[in-house]
Amino acid sequence: MEKELIKAAIMAAQNSYSPYFKFNVGAALLTEDGKVYLGCNIENSCGTSNCAERTAIFKAVSEGHKKFKAIAIVGGPNGDFKEFLTPCGMCRQVMAEFCDKDFKIIVGNKNLEYKVYTFGELLPHNFELGE
Ligand code: THU
Repeated sequence: MEKELIKAAIMAAQNSYSPYFKFNVGAALLTEDGKVYLGCNIENSCGTSNCAERTAIFKAVSEGHKKFKAIAIVGGPNGDFKEFLTPCGMCRQVMAEFCDKDFKIIVGNKNLEYKVYTFGELLPHNFELGE
């Protein structure tokens, strides 16, 4: 499952729009009912860029999916997915809205090597509105 999702994330990164950072990122999000949503980073000249992870999550939510099992992420300069890329703080906070603590965050590279974190490991003590 991990390697299939990483391959999907590599495909997603082909659509990265990153003329400013020249840093391509792809994400593949697995919903609880087995669908995969792809996302890439989409940059903007005045800074209102969207990360690959949030693109995938927002695509899924906008099509009625709000429960997720896992996300695979690849990224690197000029499409070279050498290092493991963990999600930025803004994306982690968006994950907090929809993902349980055991949601899997799979960070991969171009050789399909990977590490798996849980969401709880990457954003402990996240903000939540009280009752
Ligand atoms: N980026 C992502 O898409 N996901 C991350 O987890 C970190 C960074 C994008 C934003 C920007 O287009 C480029 O990578 C460099 O920060």
